[in-house]
Amino acid sequence: MTELPMTVPAQGLPDRVTIYEVGPRDGLQNEAGLIDTEVKAELIHRLLAAGLRIVEATSFVHPKWVPQLADAEDLMRMLGEQGRELPVLVPNERGLDRAMELGCRHVAIFGSATQTFAQKNLNRSLEEQFAMFEPVVRRARDAGLDVRAYVSMCFGDPWEGAVPVEQVVSVGRRLLDLGASQLSLGDTIGVATAGHVGALVDAFAEAGMQRGDLALHFHDTYGQALSNVQAGLRAGITTYDASAGGLGGCPYAKSATGNLATEDLVWFLTGLGIEHGVDLPALVETSTWLAGHLGRPSPSAVVRALSG
Ligand code: HMG
Ligand code: MG
Repeated sequence: MTELPMTVPAQGLPDRVTIYEVGPRDGLQNEAGLIDTEVKAELIHRLLAAGLRIVEATSFVHPKWVPQLADAEDLMRMLGEQGRELPVLVPNERGLDRAMELGCRHVAIFGSATQTFAQKNLNRSLEEQFAMFEPVVRRARDAGLDVRAYVSMCFGDPWEGAVPVEQVVSVGRRLLDLGASQLSLGDTIGVATAGHVGALVDAFAEAGMQRGDLALHFHDTYGQALSNVQAGLRAGITTYDASAGGLGGCPYAKSATGNLATEDLVWFLTGLGIEHGVDLPALVETSTWLAGHLGRPSPSAVVRALSG
């Protein structure tokens, strides 16, 4: 069985990228059936063992809003010392308090580029979200924590339609100005296309932000995620979010489906000779194991091709 593609480098692309694995959080948050905390902990251990260095573990959001991740405390206790180095989502000060009580060192806030999604996902207006995040970032930074910021609906919104690039840049700049060290640009509903990705990254650069501070977060609803990664690579972006097995979706975003599968990304990068540090067979084995727990096959083309 072919387990890796032939490597044929292309001109003008970075030599290596960082994969920011969101499977245990973005991948699982949408699962209807509650998954045992032990299974989540084993998933995280397996992902780390497969060479993923950044694995977003869970969310300290309101348990009623995302019941699947209501076991955040139990999971972090189960992971022990290793878990403290893994990023976790915190929407507000209550979330930060919960994360800090467990010794978490890396937190992520998640804002919206649109008014409607800010309201649906955070119960705040577009403007009010910044007031919610400001003390979170300040207190986290004062305590020496690293803060990532997500922006959702960067390429389109199911309620508002097209989202102007300037609006995304303005929201992103405000989140970076609060003190976030990295901004992940989310295509929450998977409507981005390659030209749009290049234009958005260039708009951030033209507005004075560093390409090295940006990450791209694609969902694969329309099968465009890898094409969008290629556009991101050409635009100089070296951090990509992905979810093992292609699981995922946002419970508060109509029509959001699975994230870019980490296996598909790893196959693609390997073919281009771009370093990523991940053991693809180990990752495929992990997603196949998880699919057994979820009771359905992984939607990732690479997992399907390699697990037969
Ligand atoms: P709210 O109802 O406005 O909260 O929800 P509140 O501040 O009014 O507080 C109400 C009660 O909730 C209070 O309790 C708080 O203590 C409690 P009471 O005093 O009434 O007993 N509370 C909390 N409890 C535990 N943990 C907390 C917390 N906060 C308040 N953190 C809130 C506001 C932000 C909490 C809510 O809207 C929420 O939890 N939203 C999370 C939604 C979510 O997790 N969405 C998915 C992640 S985003 C995503 O997937 C997109 C991404 O992948 C990128 C992309 O693809 O675009 C990142
Ligand atoms: Mg997402």
